Amino acid sequence: ELRKVRAFEKERLPEIPAEIYPRYHETGGVGWINDPNGFGLFRGEYHLFYQYHPYSLDWGPMHWGHVKSRDLIRWERLPAVMAPDRLYDGAGCYSGSAVETPEGKHLLMYTGVRKSPDPITGEPREYQTQCVALGDGVDYEKYDGNPVIGAELLPPGGSDRDFRDPKLWREGDTYYCVTGDRCPDGSGAILLFESPDALHWTYDGVLSACRDRYGRMWECPDFVPLDGKHVLLVSPQEMKAQGLEFIDGNGTLCQIGTYLPGEHRLTEEHMQAIDYGLDFYATQTTLAADGRRIMIAWMQFWGSIGAKPEGLPFFGQMTVPRELHVREGRLIQNPVRELEAYRGARTAFTDLPLSGERELPGVRGRCADLMVTVRPEGEGYSAFRLIVAKGAGLGTEITYRPESGSILVDRRGSGSPAAAVDIRAFPAKERDGAIRLRVLLDLYSFEIFVNDGEQAASFTVYTPQAADGIAFFAEGTARIDVEKYDLEF
Ligand code: FRU
Repeated sequence: ELRKVRAFEKERLPEIPAEIYPRYHETGGVGWINDPNGFGLFRGEYHLFYQYHPYSLDWGPMHWGHVKSRDLIRWERLPAVMAPDRLYDGAGCYSGSAVETPEGKHLLMYTGVRKSPDPITGEPREYQTQCVALGDGVDYEKYDGNPVIGAELLPPGGSDRDFRDPKLWREGDTYYCVTGDRCPDGSGAILLFESPDALHWTYDGVLSACRDRYGRMWECPDFVPLDGKHVLLVSPQEMKAQGLEFIDGNGTLCQIGTYLPGEHRLTEEHMQAIDYGLDFYATQTTLAADGRRIMIAWMQFWGSIGAKPEGLPFFGQMTVPRELHVREGRLIQNPVRELEAYRGARTAFTDLPLSGERELPGVRGRCADLMVTVRPEGEGYSAFRLIVAKGAGLGTEITYRPESGSILVDRRGSGSPAAAVDIRAFPAKERDGAIRLRVLLDLYSFEIFVNDGEQAASFTVYTPQAADGIAFFAEGTARIDVEKYDLEF
């Protein structure tokens, strides 16, 4: 199976012209991708794996694809590392994570999915267990003793069909992992396990439970210490909308709290969405060599996977990797600073009066790092709007209204069936009399960072590339500073 996928990649990838790929958002090259997996350093380089079905643009039996990078921005494609080819993972090698062992091995931990008849009903169903593969950064061997965590370790009422996405780390001599599972009430639970060698595990307890408040099943957990707090990142299924914070469907949730190690439990202090865009799911973090906590996610919404852009041989992208912090009980995220090395031509304007719509000389493009600061002038403004991917009657709008304290993103004018889910509003407020937006544009996406990372919002946008205009609009009067860099690779 793995030989088959590697041969397929060798044949198919060279036929695809490099220009069609986004410049700095990983896509997997060919076929379908979803969640980032195994994100982290190994022998001094960042590795990134992902859920991968190379043979079509749709989700299918899951493989792991593989890229690596020195700077988190430019990724080098490596051959796929795992195919669903064992009894315990024949229905899929689902999401998981990686560590470098003290012996210098790259250890991957993932969910093996097996489909077989239920012993009672006889109906075929899924069984999910946690498995290990060991490798050298290119080739990996599945461990003979797989699975390493099976149903026998689950607490009473746990689920062996929704037991997935191990996130692994080492503290001193001990390995820990968190996985998604369910509580007896059927809603999500994050389970904590520990092990001396990442092969023999014991169950510690329930780190955090959904208790039917934030969606149902919790997927793709990650649990990290950050700026004196502990942070749990999860991706809940079946979320219910709550004000501007959460939307219906698959969502993301960040719990900031205090960890009680003796009780293996996180106390909840602050709950928020991780990202406020329409295309963001399945986060994974890692530590950079200099101690920064870096997060990446799948830049796609499960709810709109049926509406695909036309003519591309790949589907699914990763976000730009982001540096994380906690400030005043909130998650702060900004693009990794490594991106700044790719800034080319700069165009800047300061203190420009804005009333109605205007475009600025030199400010256009679909691959750019754009910063706008907006301040009220005179009577002030009731709406400020930034329009990107504009041209030939198309345009995607980002509108800030000070009175409602929110930003509305509307991609109905993006000219693409991929905008099936097309509008989202989220909270945003001025700081020191101004609102600051940083927008990272790439060929098929834009990511918004408000006020140096207080909110982040990720969107795919498959507008034809010829629509590369950028415009600024105010209802009322405002003054704006604009700074734009072309991003060059
Ligand atoms: C989340 C998810 C994971 C699972 C993977 C399968 O997007 O459902 O829980 O491991 O996708 O591809």
